[in-house]
Amino acid sequence: MLCYQRSLLGRGVLKSRIRVGASGRATLRCNAAPVSKEATARADHVALSELLDVAVLAAEKGAAVVRESLDRPRSISFKGTTDLVTETDKASEEAVLAVLRRHFPRHALLGEEGGVSGDTNSTYLWCVDPLDGTTNFAHSYPAFAVSVGVVRGGTPVAGCVVEFTGGPHAWATRTFAAHKGRPTTCNGKPVRVSEVSEVRRSLMVTGFGYEHDEAWSANMELFREYTDVCQGVRRLGAAAVDLCHLSMGLVDAYWEYRLKPWDMAAGVIIAQEAGATVTTMDGRPFSVFERSMLATNSRLHQQMLEGTGPKTRDLLERGVDLSPWLVPPGYDSTQQP
Ligand code: IPD
Ligand code: CA
Ligand code: CA
Repeated sequence: MLCYQRSLLGRGVLKSRIRVGASGRATLRCNAAPVSKEATARADHVALSELLDVAVLAAEKGAAVVRESLDRPRSISFKGTTDLVTETDKASEEAVLAVLRRHFPRHALLGEEGGVSGDTNSTYLWCVDPLDGTTNFAHSYPAFAVSVGVVRGGTPVAGCVVEFTGGPHAWATRTFAAHKGRPTTCNGKPVRVSEVSEVRRSLMVTGFGYEHDEAWSANMELFREYTDVCQGVRRLGAAAVDLCHLSMGLVDAYWEYRLKPWDMAAGVIIAQEAGATVTTMDGRPFSVFERSMLATNSRLHQQMLEGTGPKTRDLLERGVDLSPWLVPPGYDSTQQP
């Protein structure tokens, strides 16, 4: 039986839908106009610095919308029992996408609220989380962000995250930015992952999605196991923020199951260019379409895999689907960056 996943039934410029099968496997469908791949690839080559400039511009536009709403009552609706969305998520996404469409009308876009739009023959796919950490935002708890990343294939190549910090009476933002080959900056200053090399000396962070399935339960076990052997495991509730905190050495490792491309695209390039190693939780190469992610300072990666690897392989052996998903139809997720 197929059902629509409401989180992507937004108001995309081109109609898009995610269909989720009984297996949990999802496919995105869109009605973008067909253009030959070769023509698009030639037409849309863009310098990394330009991609980053536009990512920053777009994320700042989204952040301006969020900033305006900080001290106003929230208008909340529910996508699931606990998965909520506010008017601010939607308004922020519109602001971000308007910038991206103005600069790159032929690129493919994937927004959390609106789904797929643009030309999926493009070599570039922009992954936009207009408000990552919506639950925190709804409660004025200071761990949320606007996240704008661009990938080639499944690999993030540039991204910007504007993080909201401080909380009521003390709101502030900091802007993280990176592109492939350019060191990550926070408010224009270089940042770097930590040098911690032992699990027992480390502070970690993880996250739990809205779907309380086998992967969620497996992660509860990992949470308990690591809480026992490291200095603490935090759960902030905003994946992009978690990755940015890794990039500046506030935490030493971060993992999570079932994140979506828009949760990870910007944060992963920001973490990588600050020195992080990022793979799936069983040690395979990372792609934004994967359903597990382990990001650590490079010294801890192997040790962390000794815990997350077996847990993830056990899920696979039990038939839990962790295969790549949410690839927009027509988009070549296998191309090399
Ligand atoms: C969520 C946050 C959270 C993570 C969830 C995400 P949203 O995004 O990033 O940390 O655990 O899996 O869905 O819904 O606040 O944009
Ligand atoms: Ca998110
Ligand atoms: Ca969101």
